[in-house]
Amino acid sequence: MLINSANCAEPHPAVPLPAFDPHQSADFSSRDITPSHYFNQGFIQMKAVHIAMMFAVGLGVSGQVFADEALAKAKNCMSCHAVDKKLVGPAYKDVAAKYKGDAGAVDKLAAKVKAGGKGVWGEIPMPPNNVTPDEAKKLVTWVLSQK
Ligand code: HEC
Repeated sequence: MLINSANCAEPHPAVPLPAFDPHQSADFSSRDITPSHYFNQGFIQMKAVHIAMMFAVGLGVSGQVFADEALAKAKNCMSCHAVDKKLVGPAYKDVAAKYKGDAGAVDKLAAKVKAGGKGVWGEIPMPPNNVTPDEAKKLVTWVLSQK
């Protein structure tokens, strides 16, 4: 992805050297770095901010799907689950098929994702997962939308 000032909504402040330090942290100031390093550091961080901004905009356009899959990865769900095949746990597609038309499924499964449990798909238990109730709901909604 090419990022330049032309596709960035924020006007770039002029960057005087060597005083430029909008991102300066205590950690930086304790290091002995030259003004040119300083500038590079600031430049890279500004770029990172732009990428983050464009990423946020991109999510708005491409919808929830990617966000929830990324959350599933971040929360380690994908080390035991895949969308379309059984790993340690059932394929998310199979979970979605099983609970199709079950109005209470989101709440029930979200509670199970958080607390863990076993016996529905076999004797291998799912351990409790480190998710908030909101995250569990979001993840289960995503799981149940898999086809
Ligand atoms: C250590 C492996 C492991 C991890 C990590 C894991 N799961 Fe599971 N998951 C399982 C197993 C095993 C089952 C089957 C449990 C059973 O048979 O009741 C399962 C079942 C499920 C089910 C179906 C439950 C049911 O009662 O039908 C959902 C939904 C689910 N997992 C979602 C998640 C989500 C979301 C995460 C991440 C926050 C996650 N899992 C993390 C192993 C795991």
